[in-house]
Amino acid sequence: MSLFDQITPVPPDPIFGIVAAYRADSRESKIDLSVGVYHSETLKCLIMESVKAAEGLIFENEKQKTYLPMLGEKAFLDVSLKLVLGEAFFEKERNRTVIGQTVGGTGALRCGSEILAQIGFKKVYMPDPTWANHKAIFRRSGHEVELYPYFDHKENRLDFEKTFEFFKTIPEKSLVLMHASSHNPTGCDPTKEQWQELSNLFMKRGITPLFDTAYQGLSDGLDEDAYSMRLFADAGHEMFITNSYSKNFGLYGERVGNLIILTKSEKEASALESVVKQTIRASYSNPPKHGASIVTTILQDVNLRQLWEEELSRMRQRINGSRDKFAKAMLDRGRDGMYKHLTEKKGFFFLSGLSKEQSIRLRSEFAIYVPNSGRINLTGINDENIQCIIDAIIEVG
Ligand SMILES: Cc1ncc(COP(=O)(O)O)c(C=O)c1O
Repeated sequence: MSLFDQITPVPPDPIFGIVAAYRADSRESKIDLSVGVYHSETLKCLIMESVKAAEGLIFENEKQKTYLPMLGEKAFLDVSLKLVLGEAFFEKERNRTVIGQTVGGTGALRCGSEILAQIGFKKVYMPDPTWANHKAIFRRSGHEVELYPYFDHKENRLDFEKTFEFFKTIPEKSLVLMHASSHNPTGCDPTKEQWQELSNLFMKRGITPLFDTAYQGLSDGLDEDAYSMRLFADAGHEMFITNSYSKNFGLYGERVGNLIILTKSEKEASALESVVKQTIRASYSNPPKHGASIVTTILQDVNLRQLWEEELSRMRQRINGSRDKFAKAMLDRGRDGMYKHLTEKKGFFFLSGLSKEQSIRLRSEFAIYVPNSGRINLTGINDENIQCIIDAIIEVG
């Protein structure tokens, strides 16, 4: 008997498994609508110009490659906090805030979920559906996971009344994970009024919010997409934010993100900061340098920041344009059921309503790669392939 003969293989990750299958497919016509990576009109995942320019400056000026502090560089933490919560919050509330650089948004979720378990939370409520990795991360950190009603699959939109009523019934002082904007996978976000209702209810019931933000700037704008988090922060909630720069800076493989925690006082923040440091030290010691230097360089330089914002705005326009074209084409083909609310949605993704079997058929018969959930990444669509995608969906649907 060997050491490992009892190990049973776990199934491949629902998204990265599809990416691997896409790469292995030799059909020239293959189309990737799966993984959450932004593709340009030419269907390439290009490096942003602002990122390239920042890298040039870094390579010219970098003097050493020694370890970063456990929480990352102060300059990175300051620009990050300002980007997510705004300058005014930074000036007024920095003292009660803890922030640490993490290994992508996933690292922020992992580190945050460990700290939440450490301070006594045993269970987390997440939207149904949610980004698949949320459940795995929180379970690994010892949390029980329960889904809260969010998406109305029949009407294909957010069922806010159900969500809100559910939050009235969960135990006081519960922990609730929410997507700050561009809900993945549905593309459905609450309205400003609905966020306000949630903030009031959470305050009244002592519910702790955790905002996951992975798409700031890719729905409506940098400030607009931070609305929910800033509303809760201004209302004085003790809360967690897990932030990813993978999509809005295109820094996927550089693994750059941060964890932000809002406390009630400077004293609490200082104690909690030591806990965040300890968690990071015991996980990966200190964060990676290059991606964080890129973000800091761009956000500190007026011209690079302007270039980055322009690029982000073009990405947003492409996403919104693809969504509108796709919705119109589907409605023209008489498919109003799943697509009638599509133009109201936000961000990269929407649920196409395709079943697991239909998604498998799309992959095997048409070389169109969508995960079994039927989630579609709008940036995999361009003027050349849109007709082919629509024909295939009509054929299997
Ligand atoms: C909602 C959400 N949260 C977090 C992440 C993780 O981001 P990262 O790739 O920076 O770990 C993703 C990535 O797809 C996401 O969609």
